[in-house]
Amino acid sequence: MDFEGFIRGLPKAELHLHIEGSLEPELMFELAGRNGVALPFANVEAVRAAYAFSNLQDFLDIYYAGAGVLLTEQDFKDLALAYFRRVAGDGVRHVELFFDPQTHTDRGLPFSVAIEGLLAGMAEAEQSLGITSSLILCFLRHLDEDAAFATLKAAEPWLDRIQGVGLDSSEVGHPPSKFARVFKAARERGLKLVAHAGEEGPPEYVYEALDVLHVDRIDHGNRSLEDEALVRRLVAEGMTLTVCPLSNLKLCVVKDLKDHPLKRMLGLGLKATINSDDPAYFGGYLGQNWIQTAQALGLTRDELVTLARNSFTGSFLPPAAVERHLAEIDAYAARAAAAA
Ligand code: ADE
Ligand code: ZN
Repeated sequence: MDFEGFIRGLPKAELHLHIEGSLEPELMFELAGRNGVALPFANVEAVRAAYAFSNLQDFLDIYYAGAGVLLTEQDFKDLALAYFRRVAGDGVRHVELFFDPQTHTDRGLPFSVAIEGLLAGMAEAEQSLGITSSLILCFLRHLDEDAAFATLKAAEPWLDRIQGVGLDSSEVGHPPSKFARVFKAARERGLKLVAHAGEEGPPEYVYEALDVLHVDRIDHGNRSLEDEALVRRLVAEGMTLTVCPLSNLKLCVVKDLKDHPLKRMLGLGLKATINSDDPAYFGGYLGQNWIQTAQALGLTRDELVTLARNSFTGSFLPPAAVERHLAEIDAYAARAAAAA
């Protein structure tokens, strides 16, 4: 089996995927037409040409504008199903997907529209593709904590179908501590906690995510590497980092994929995983993130198996399901080794 085939077939989970970031220009135009929404682009090529970002904010401006075509439950269901169909061939078995309800409720959509549409798409993906998934509600950190509380309240009727809460959007200037109370409230409701930290923000934001928010996972975490004590702590705690290589490249967190710290993270003993973040905007779904990163960094088969195992041990799946997926990875790796 060739290297690419080995990677594609390796059973894996995706733990850092903004479903709004999987909106391809083709679907954006289809939904704009269906919903009578005007787009500031002449065609699909013009949209793609606009995807040249020099930082996170450049991207976020266009990402929030793109989400404006999503108006009905069917739109969100179509969005989710399009994503699941794209990753079905990448060996993806499980996805913990982010959604940004405030992006939609601030446009006047009822809270129910996004979540009901997404849940319908997720149920159908499990049925037809065998991919399991769960939802993580992200608070937009450029908004205030009262708005996050209002969102948590709006989510109440669906809390049994929401696995956790997260924190995304513009990082610098919006430290995790700004959301200490709402994360405490989410924890008291039994929700898992994650937060973007150390994507553009300093190591102090990673410390705050750990010590003030008490997160179960760190999203990105790249800048943790600037602080040796922090790295030692993340290793000791077995904290999962949901790393997003092609996102880091497109948002200029790294200049070249060859400079990406993923291999160094593994060498330091950090529990890193590979994820796509916003695949429609960053040039690749999960399989492409794995393949391009493996090629650029010369990842070994053992490192790839470690990454696959991390994606399940770092997930919020129940232990029996994690064990099932790990056994499948081990059997796959043994078959590949025997065939080599
Ligand atoms: N929202 C969508 N993608 C994001 C990212 N990479 N960082 C912060 N917020 C986001
Ligand atoms: Zn993200």
